[in-house]
Amino acid sequence: MDYDVIDLSLAGRGKARIEWAGLEMKVLETIRARFEAEKPLEGLVIGACLHVTTETANLMLTLKAGGAEAYLCASNPLSTQDDVAASLVQDYGISTFARCGEDNDTYYAHIASVLDKRPVITMDDGADLVTTLHTGRKDQADIVLAGTEETTTGVIRLRSMQEQGVLLFPVIAVNNADTKHFFDNRYGTGQSTIDGIIRATNLLLAGKVMVVFGYGWCGRGIASRARGLGSHVVVIEVDPLRALEATMDGFQVKTSMDAAKVGDIFVTATGDTGCLRAEHFETMKDRAVVCNSGHFDVEIDIPALEGMSKSRRCVRDHVEEFLLPDGRRIYLLGEGRLVNLAAAEGHPASVMDMSFANQALAAEHVSLHHAELERKVYDVPREIDEEIARLKLESMGIAIDSLTPQQEEYLKSWTLGT
Ligand code: ADE
Repeated sequence: MDYDVIDLSLAGRGKARIEWAGLEMKVLETIRARFEAEKPLEGLVIGACLHVTTETANLMLTLKAGGAEAYLCASNPLSTQDDVAASLVQDYGISTFARCGEDNDTYYAHIASVLDKRPVITMDDGADLVTTLHTGRKDQADIVLAGTEETTTGVIRLRSMQEQGVLLFPVIAVNNADTKHFFDNRYGTGQSTIDGIIRATNLLLAGKVMVVFGYGWCGRGIASRARGLGSHVVVIEVDPLRALEATMDGFQVKTSMDAAKVGDIFVTATGDTGCLRAEHFETMKDRAVVCNSGHFDVEIDIPALEGMSKSRRCVRDHVEEFLLPDGRRIYLLGEGRLVNLAAAEGHPASVMDMSFANQALAAEHVSLHHAELERKVYDVPREIDEEIARLKLESMGIAIDSLTPQQEEYLKSWTLGT
């Protein structure tokens, strides 16, 4: 079997952790049991470019149970859990190409290794697999039935490909399912980002000023969890509606320049480039901490920070100190990459359960309906979303009411008024 992982001797630990995550992934477990029996993905080659975590391992096992030949590479150079990669290869026979800390060339070599398997379904987190295929390997696009995309940034890239008329096959935007972004982006990113900051720094968050860039689903989650730990949260937004929402949710809203003067910890979650720049670093307090929770490492201008610093050194795992000429120190976490995956373990299994249930059912949807799909970005069908919500509630032992016949009737009628 073809693979590239750091150390197969880590497999035992990886297997135990994969099983531990599986305990919180009951929706995926239900789907896996049905896939075992029905084999809806029989004979399909699936190429996945995802964060190599315990949760992703459970997804890969589900795809395999469905009959797919599944291959995996990392969707970020710093997010691979090497014990999981080892176990996928050794215990589960899944070809995995991922090494935590891999350089850019290795990262793309691993994507190439997955593309060499000629996938007919691509499964992306950030769209690097699809964009690599579209730039260097266009000839392979014909065999792809469709792709799936896990994250907001990836969906934005794919929409831009669709608008420019260059998208060569359909893609299902898993991120857009309600059972994905309402939970994974908000509660998953909220908790795991705070987890990453705490694991990296061991700072007390109570009483600190935490500046959150972006009030999308991720920003909302981070802001609300930081408030829960006693931080004074300041939100930075460019969208007036979101800024208004943040204000009425009880957060302070400021311009980034005003926030730069007062923040203790800065977290970017915008999906855009250059949020924290030289002019912000110029005014920050001594010992300000900066980190990113957006998909790519472009939100903090690290070259600018490095260019204005006298020195850069690692002071503890995942924490680098930049010493400015006037003696102020700025601390960068996780090299400006996703702090929740670089310094912690990513989102907890319970939310990834729903995200990856969407991935598994989206793959099944592709196997059944690819002939009807055009070269467009599609939402996950509503029935899938609702089925996942129903299964999740069931797995949590939560029963809900249904409408009485009288209520159903009332909702359909327009004659009954005051
Ligand atoms: N993205 C965020 N958290 C993740 C996790 N635990 N596994 C895979 N992808 C993720």
